[in-house]
Amino acid sequence: MKIGGSVALVTGANRGLGRAYARELVSRGAGKVYGAARNPAAVTEPGVTPIGLDITDAGRVAQVAQQCADVSLLVNNAGVLEYSTFIGAPGLDAARLEMETNYFGTLSMCRAFAPVLAANGGGAIVNMLSVTSFYTNPFNASYGASKAAAWSLTNGVRLELHHQGTLVVAVHASFIDTDMAALTSEPKDSPESVAQQVFDAVEAGQIEVLADERSRTVKAELSRDHELIYPPVQEFWDAAVKGAG
Ligand SMILES: NC(=O)c1ccc[n+]([C@@H]2O[C@H](COP(=O)([O-])OP(=O)(O)OC[C@H]3O[C@@H](n4cnc5c(N)ncnc54)[C@H](OP(=O)(O)O)[C@@H]3O)[C@@H](O)[C@H]2O)c1
Repeated sequence: MKIGGSVALVTGANRGLGRAYARELVSRGAGKVYGAARNPAAVTEPGVTPIGLDITDAGRVAQVAQQCADVSLLVNNAGVLEYSTFIGAPGLDAARLEMETNYFGTLSMCRAFAPVLAANGGGAIVNMLSVTSFYTNPFNASYGASKAAAWSLTNGVRLELHHQGTLVVAVHASFIDTDMAALTSEPKDSPESVAQQVFDAVEAGQIEVLADERSRTVKAELSRDHELIYPPVQEFWDAAVKGAG
């Protein structure tokens, strides 16, 4: 689909990658860009129309879909990372928050906007996933589970919406230079680079964006994950446990 003249809605548009998505859409000539955020006053990007939205609030999601009935490009960007292990975490709160936001919030947005996109000619959905959709890392284990679930939903939504001509794009990235990755000193993609790759893909009709070398390598190694992906992760985790002990 063409970005120029389209009407887009980006969740979590107040900061980080969501802000870069909104800016890139404006610079590519989108006719209107709704910047959705829990605090709409924090959406300050020029050319972006703020809208209040917590994606875990199903009633509000439904209202926004009615209010923004002109949307043809939905960017499900909002997400949370709690750096929570499966076994060592003190309880299930972090895992539930991640699943509620990253999986159920994204699902709820897809369900609410599917008829809107159909009415506007099909359009596109972009779901912001992660390299951790592909494998589990104990440092962010429950986040990875929520992103794996969101990957599965992305593939399913694509199949279900094929008949109405909706392009459904899965975006996988390793670290991106935003607040979410502030704790790590690993190499990071710039939000601008991810945003550019994503909207190039939307315009080219591509269903998947592997935004960096790590994402491309891990996806390519999936059929040999227990030989190639998990041994170094285990080694790193064991060293961390030993260091902490
Ligand atoms: N940064 C990375 O290394 C990285 C890598 C791969 C994928 N991702 C994914 O990229 C997306 C954007 O993350 P980011 O790096 O930009 O992180 P970020 O800087 O932490 O921003 C997260 C955004 O999501 C919003 N959000 C969280 N929960 C929400 C909810 N319930 N309803 C509405 N908005 C909500 C936040 O709003 P508030 O300001 O109100 O908290 C904020 O705008 C996420 O899906 C993340 O999982 C990030």
